[in-house]
Amino acid sequence: MVSLSPRRVVSAVRRRRATTEVVVPAPEQTPEQRRRERRRERRRRLRTMSLTELAEEFGTDKWGVHHYTPHYERHLEHLRRREFTLLEIGVGGYTRRKRSGASLKMWRWFFPRARIVGLDIEDKSFIDQGPIVTYQGDQTDPEVFHRIFAEQGVPMVVVDDGSHVPAHVRATFGIVFPLLPDGAIYCIEDTQTSYWPAWGGQLDPRARGTSMDMVKDLVDGLNHEELLVEGYEPTYTDTHVRAVHCYHNLVVIEKGDNREGTNKDTSSGHFHGSSPDPALAAASNPAASPEASLEETAEEAP
Ligand SMILES: C[S@@+](CC[C@H](N)C(=O)[O-])C[C@H]1O[C@@H](n2cnc3c(N)ncnc32)[C@H](O)[C@@H]1O
Repeated sequence: MVSLSPRRVVSAVRRRRATTEVVVPAPEQTPEQRRRERRRERRRRLRTMSLTELAEEFGTDKWGVHHYTPHYERHLEHLRRREFTLLEIGVGGYTRRKRSGASLKMWRWFFPRARIVGLDIEDKSFIDQGPIVTYQGDQTDPEVFHRIFAEQGVPMVVVDDGSHVPAHVRATFGIVFPLLPDGAIYCIEDTQTSYWPAWGGQLDPRARGTSMDMVKDLVDGLNHEELLVEGYEPTYTDTHVRAVHCYHNLVVIEKGDNREGTNKDTSSGHFHGSSPDPALAAASNPAASPEASLEETAEEAP
């Protein structure tokens, strides 16, 4: 009998296995399985994309023609994993059905747990799918917003990318903003129409009645507690707009309590904001100037 060392036994067994093992080929995938695998792979890819990459993927002009997506990403990142409702006014696509709802699809992948609602003057219901739902209606009609909010929940994010006509933009803001909760973000796109008469804007950048004119009033309202205007009554937006971020053609408005308390010391009649320069103080209030008080003293003297 031949005795083999343990190492030789192991290698002999390995050799035997190698010659007898049958390699079973992986079963052929059906076309349906291949399609499903491709879809799974695409979903995996979409979930890891930045907002800009998603904009490019779906073909919305929020990146490319405009440069909005990095701003949105910065202001909305904290909501990425949250459950909430996002409303975008203006679904887009016009006559190109396949391109319709590009931005809604972008939001849907950026906010995987959100309900994505679109409002458009045209019927866009053919893009409703999964968390995306659209409504047909005019952005200046309060009823349509009451219906959407009752059925889909009050949105935490509103994007106005609708008609861009300043009168519409202002009316929509007036209807929707008071209905939003604290912490909500209200965005207005394409504010350049403020300066374009063909879109209902004005040549004069400081003209009243445009979208940007409304935004500038909101900016003044941030400091409403510091106004020295006698009997000034704060407006709703004075007390409920916490921040206004203006970018090229895009405005992002944060809702929240804007009553921090004034910086002026009203009890003593001394305002921290009053000018330390007597000449400037006199110009803004001649009655309080040192010269005026000297004149008064001289007149009073016997
Ligand atoms: C610029 S497109 C929206 C593009 C889309 N948000 C995107 O980024 O891919 C403007 C859309 O607003 C819609 N629209 C125009 N006037 C409107 C109005 N008064 N009310 C609601 N939607 C309106 C148009 O039908 C069009 O689909």
